[in-house]
Amino acid sequence: MGRKVLLEKAHVEGIRYYDTYRREGGYAAVEKAFKMGPADIVEEVKKSGLRGRGGAGFPTGMKWSFLAKPEGVPRYLVCNADESEPGTFKDRWLMEFIPHLLIEGLIISSFALGSNRTYIYIRGEYAWIVDILEEAIAEANRAGFLGKNILGSGFDCQIYVQRGAGAYICGEETALLESLEGKRGNPRIKPPFPAIRGLYDSPTVVNNVETLAAVVPIINMGGEEYAKIGVGKSTGTKLISACGNLNKPGVYEIDMTISVEEFIYSDEFCGGIPNGKRLKACIPGGSSVPILPANLLLKTAKGEQRMMTYESLADGGFPTGSMMGSGGFIVLDEDQCVVRHTYSLARFYRHESCGQCSPCREGTGWMEKILYKIEHGKGDMRDIDLLWDIQSKIEGNTICPLGDAAAWPVAAAIRHFRDEFEWHVLHPEEAQHRNFGLAHY
Ligand code: NAI
Ligand code: SF4
Repeated sequence: MGRKVLLEKAHVEGIRYYDTYRREGGYAAVEKAFKMGPADIVEEVKKSGLRGRGGAGFPTGMKWSFLAKPEGVPRYLVCNADESEPGTFKDRWLMEFIPHLLIEGLIISSFALGSNRTYIYIRGEYAWIVDILEEAIAEANRAGFLGKNILGSGFDCQIYVQRGAGAYICGEETALLESLEGKRGNPRIKPPFPAIRGLYDSPTVVNNVETLAAVVPIINMGGEEYAKIGVGKSTGTKLISACGNLNKPGVYEIDMTISVEEFIYSDEFCGGIPNGKRLKACIPGGSSVPILPANLLLKTAKGEQRMMTYESLADGGFPTGSMMGSGGFIVLDEDQCVVRHTYSLARFYRHESCGQCSPCREGTGWMEKILYKIEHGKGDMRDIDLLWDIQSKIEGNTICPLGDAAAWPVAAAIRHFRDEFEWHVLHPEEAQHRNFGLAHY
């Protein structure tokens, strides 16, 4: 159902501004958290079962408890607002309409982790949101929730907003830290994880916008209550940005008890596919996760109804499952071409590869070229096998997950829609004339 926890107040007029946010109960969680103390806050987050909302779904409380605490070394909290995953725009919505929820979550989390200097690293294209966040930070400073000796606790904290420069790779946490340090955004080899050696070689927690915002309701209602929302290890609510062939694309907050079918077809959410078209496929968690054909999207390999949960979306593993990922839900109707779609993603990953490792640097470009050939009716059957071979050699052989993210969409498209690739090879004339104005070599 559409239980609102994060977006409950999002439609209150003026909620973007401190006075309204405060009047609606905002910053009560900060007051409560400062009475609880850091250890209890971490405990509540652990009890809540909150999982990272950026894509990986790693348990937040566990990540926080990994944070090293050497004497005399600063610790940092960094908010990853470099939301660049194609199909993903839920953090943008949250920051644009209810920025104080993020600021409140950041203050509580900074206090829990002992971060006196906290950063929001935001994608460069979100320029107008930088202004919104800076205004919200200024308001929180004026109200005494940021700055020195917050609420008489002796804890000092300041939040800084840093704009990226348009590179997708800077959303990878270690590339983000490099960029924040003023260097080229090349991912680092992990381990060491940022929790041990992060920003300026100091222990650092990097969390997604939605994850940090969720800390506010967790403190307000308590971790155990939060954990009662949802199912199994998919606790709480999740923001989903729905796009593609849908009657009502947009950002939805779901508690993780609804089925995929309900999410697509019910009027409460996406309202079905326009013009009575049939559902062909869906990428349920942002462009990096495998595409699923309609039959597998709505039912798991075991024939059970597929649910909007981490577990159910992944059920069966990659041949038959996918991932919740970042919650970027991209729907394709029967008129869409999977080959063209896969080519478009391959272009994106080739363009965004940082070039450090050869399987990713060379493989993404090679896949793009082959997909271009096939899409434009110039491929042959061996190209499909070659494509399969290349993606299999990228997966698992790179420094950061961008390599996997480039390989998985290609693998899943061939696995589930091989006939469509073959059609392009067997009908070169028709494929050639289906030119949608994409870039030529
Ligand atoms: P990951 O699974 O490597 O790590 C998850 C988090 O847990 C990281 O913060 C990592 O530092 C921490 N961690 C894991 N093991 C640890 C340990 N032993 N000790 C300390 N910390 C540990 O995944 P990653 O690289 O953070 O994220 C990949 C995901 O990001 C993909 O699944 C993709 O869906 C998503 N993504 C989201 C984008 C967006 O715009 N929201 C853009 C691109 C990718
Ligand atoms: Fe760079 Fe790609 Fe290697 Fe990641 S996988 S470090 S993006 S070359």
